[in-house]
Amino acid sequence: MAKPALALHSSAKPAAPITGRAPDSKGSDGVLDARALQAALAAALPQPAPQADSAPAFLPYGKQEISLADIQAVIEALTSGWLTTGPRVGEFEKAFAAHCGAKEGVAINSGTAALHCAMRAVGVHTGDEVIVPALTFAASANAAIYEGATPVFADVEPDTLLIDPASVAARITPRTRAIVAVDYAGQPADYDALREIARPRGIRIIADACHAPGATYHGRATGTLGDISCFSFHPVKHMTTCEGGMAATDDETLAAHMRRFRNHGIDSDHRSREAAGAHAYDMTELGYNYRLPDVQCALGLAQLPRLGGWVHARQKIAAAYDKAFAGIEQVTPLKTRNDRTNAYHLYVVKLDPSLDRDAVFRHLRAQGIGANVHYAPVYWHSYYQARGYAKGLCPMAERASRHILTLPMFPAMTETDVARVVDALKGAL
Ligand SMILES: Cc1ncc(COP(=O)(O)O)c(C=O)c1O
Repeated sequence: MAKPALALHSSAKPAAPITGRAPDSKGSDGVLDARALQAALAAALPQPAPQADSAPAFLPYGKQEISLADIQAVIEALTSGWLTTGPRVGEFEKAFAAHCGAKEGVAINSGTAALHCAMRAVGVHTGDEVIVPALTFAASANAAIYEGATPVFADVEPDTLLIDPASVAARITPRTRAIVAVDYAGQPADYDALREIARPRGIRIIADACHAPGATYHGRATGTLGDISCFSFHPVKHMTTCEGGMAATDDETLAAHMRRFRNHGIDSDHRSREAAGAHAYDMTELGYNYRLPDVQCALGLAQLPRLGGWVHARQKIAAAYDKAFAGIEQVTPLKTRNDRTNAYHLYVVKLDPSLDRDAVFRHLRAQGIGANVHYAPVYWHSYYQARGYAKGLCPMAERASRHILTLPMFPAMTETDVARVVDALKGAL
């Protein structure tokens, strides 16, 4: 998947490297002076580029915002003595869990690793089957393979492109252990329908909410909808820790298992042993090093208070797009159901099948519009083809994947940016 590089929020000249520090930025006790640090950072930050007569700036499909306060929080963490698992990990876990309505948050070093932790915690084993929607990022399915299970691809609903509960029901077998419900583009899947299928059979639901922090289903936040809900803090997502993820759950046993699994399968971490004055530890299962460092949690903590505002800004941009496309027959935005709110990680439209989607994509790119496609069905990738997944498995996902287009969507987009995208797309019809 092509992902844009981290961008600062102004179109800017490259920043001067932050080398050394202002002469008075460190007090005699070795603690950085916040005001001096801020002044040094402001001087080092990129200045807005002068307006040129040349073509307007490239509009990527997604873009992160990094503030001076974010940078300061990271520098404070860097100089705090805690670089890996320190106090900011637990603080970030608590704050993020509270934000998405869950009792527990487990910080993990990517959304993919969070999905892997979730698979282990709910007991996915070799020989099990895990139902995954065909239209998602490969990681949603790959995580099942990490545990020796087989992804079974379910089709998607035509108007939302969310996992179709009827297709899930048709794919249940005695070996089904879990369902991965992907909140595609930012809208929660139909969790009540999925739970009706899963609960009587003891099947667990892993919510892949990587697209949907801040969305709701029947008024419930996305951290509460699966047995475990997984989030990503990759820079193209709603908020970032550079790379990073979180698994949210109301189940303390699942949370404890994931905390162990992200730490080699060891039952304590360095910090808790230091606090207890102990040296011994036990490795109870084969885990991984999936820890999210304190420095990155500092960035997450600094970003989190802005998440709600960013989701709101995305919803406003989506409303402007919806309005602009309302009278255009060849462009159909995805539907958001009345019982949910959409956090709009992506703004996806379906183009009329008479149009050549790839020609429209090229037209937009030529105009500096960072259109994209999310996704081709996972099992079309050669890795999956080599494992014997036949084309034609999920006809709706396959058809949709030929006609969908992702348009730029990020909180700093202006009305002018939206109009520019709409005009460029109209010009391609
Ligand atoms: C639906 C979905 N699931 C999982 C992931 C994996 O997240 P990460 O990139 O943090 O590993 C992504 C990220 O692109 C995603 O879009």
